[in-house]
Amino acid sequence: MKLIVPLLLAAQVAAPVAGAGDGIIDLVDPDRYAGQAVPDYITRDNTPAANPITDRGATLGRVLFHDRRLSVDGTISCSSCHQQEHGFSDPATASSGVAGTTGRHSMRLVNARFGTERRFFWDERAATLEDQTTRPIRDHVEMGFSGADGDPGFADLVDRLAAHEEYHVLFTAVFGDGGISEERIQDALAQFVRSIQSFDSKYDAGRGQVAGDAVPFPNFTAMENAGKRIFLDPPPQGGAGCAGCHRPPEFDIDPNSGNNGVAGAIGGGSDFTVTRAPSLRDLTDAAGNPNGGFMHDGAFLTLGQVVAHYNAIPAVVPGIDNRLTRPGPGGPQPQRLNLDAGERASLVAFLETLGGSSLYTDPKWSDPFDDAGVISLVVLPTDNIAMSFSGSGESRTVTLVGSAVPHVDYRFQSTHDFVEWSSHAVTADADGEVRLTLPAPASEAACYYRLAYVTD
Ligand code: HEC
Ligand code: HEC
Repeated sequence: MKLIVPLLLAAQVAAPVAGAGDGIIDLVDPDRYAGQAVPDYITRDNTPAANPITDRGATLGRVLFHDRRLSVDGTISCSSCHQQEHGFSDPATASSGVAGTTGRHSMRLVNARFGTERRFFWDERAATLEDQTTRPIRDHVEMGFSGADGDPGFADLVDRLAAHEEYHVLFTAVFGDGGISEERIQDALAQFVRSIQSFDSKYDAGRGQVAGDAVPFPNFTAMENAGKRIFLDPPPQGGAGCAGCHRPPEFDIDPNSGNNGVAGAIGGGSDFTVTRAPSLRDLTDAAGNPNGGFMHDGAFLTLGQVVAHYNAIPAVVPGIDNRLTRPGPGGPQPQRLNLDAGERASLVAFLETLGGSSLYTDPKWSDPFDDAGVISLVVLPTDNIAMSFSGSGESRTVTLVGSAVPHVDYRFQSTHDFVEWSSHAVTADADGEVRLTLPAPASEAACYYRLAYVTD
């Protein structure tokens, strides 16, 4: 009898603060991040050719995103300020970092991939999403690896992560070797952020049934369809012109947008530099609950307040987009849409159709750490290893084939008695396949095989 003994090896490493997940990351059969279903009416996509989403790349990004060890004192992860249950934003107006609170409201990370504006942050100071992802880590207030003001630098974070075997395996699986660099961290985090998508809203259910946004949606109430028309039509046609800057069906920001007249700053002062908004999807969840305050200063707590702002913009401020002003005596005057209460309520009802469901609960975006702060990696196949024999007599060989984690080094081990094991090194190929051909045992004694993962 020949028997394969599959062995599940879990690399357990403690993170300082407990998480909420089951702690298990299956790197042999990872969650699906690449090739998620995207509706055919969605066409805008800022994914660079050099960094497409891969299942294991986004998996590494997920671990990094939820790992509090990315902050100097081990208390803050990306997910501290970008919480899944709130559309990856924060109900707090200012978010808490390692050394104080943020100067702007946290942004929802929803459909960040589906837009043509490649620059990120409210003021678009990051040239790409990749560039954005390590800025919070380097920020003195947010995660604290600034390398200034007595903070450790980014190299110290790299050293910290390199000390953990699970990161060695994760980086090897994604990049072919265990080397950790800022660029690799950026690529993985950007893949994860781009993978966060929301297309199961009431809006999508309607949009999928018709030829375009201008057609009334069969699943909408009369009020929602009226609100949609106000969103789409420009002011001269009785609409509010929202679609000119928040462009359906992605609801991404027009790259040419100026600011929208919201010019306050958290804690006082003014801020005229904000020309980006995240996608307007999931402003509220499917039940209509807001995912935190709106705008860069979180000043509006309801969509009604947002609509009231656009209905009567308080003042012409520096940098305001001229679509929100009209000519007047002595220069441009702020927009007055004169929407009545019914029209404003309809517009709010439409905005609420943009909230989905799976965004808030899909485990593939959730905190992978368990409640003891531990992550466990499945690195060995849980299915059988295929084996086949060829040749005869002295030249008889056995070939073992299994699926494992790409680029990771394994040992195929065999024994007759479970006491003495012989061991053969084998590295999984880029598809995760391990394959080894050995001389078949000459004796008729039973031989047992297993695939093992051994740390150096
Ligand atoms: C302390 C809170 C905090 C932490 C930690 C944090 N963020 Fe943010 N994030 C914010 C705030 C606030 C903004 C908006 C800042 C601005 O525009 O000036 C933001 C903006 C962003 C944006 C821009 C979204 C857009 O549409 O332009 C991305 C992407 C992002 N964060 C990802 C991350 C990642 C990845 C991490 C972890 C490495 C992280 N954040 C850690 C608070 C935080
Ligand atoms: C000229 C371009 C422009 C037009 C027109 C416009 N917006 Fe905006 N919108 C922006 C910009 C820029 C921001 C980010 C402003 C800020 O945070 O200070 C924004 C922010 C928002 C936000 C907050 C998003 C968030 O994540 O907090 C909502 C909601 C919104 N707009 C809805 C609307 C609606 C509804 C209309 C039509 C009545 C509209 N916008 C018209 C440019 C525009």
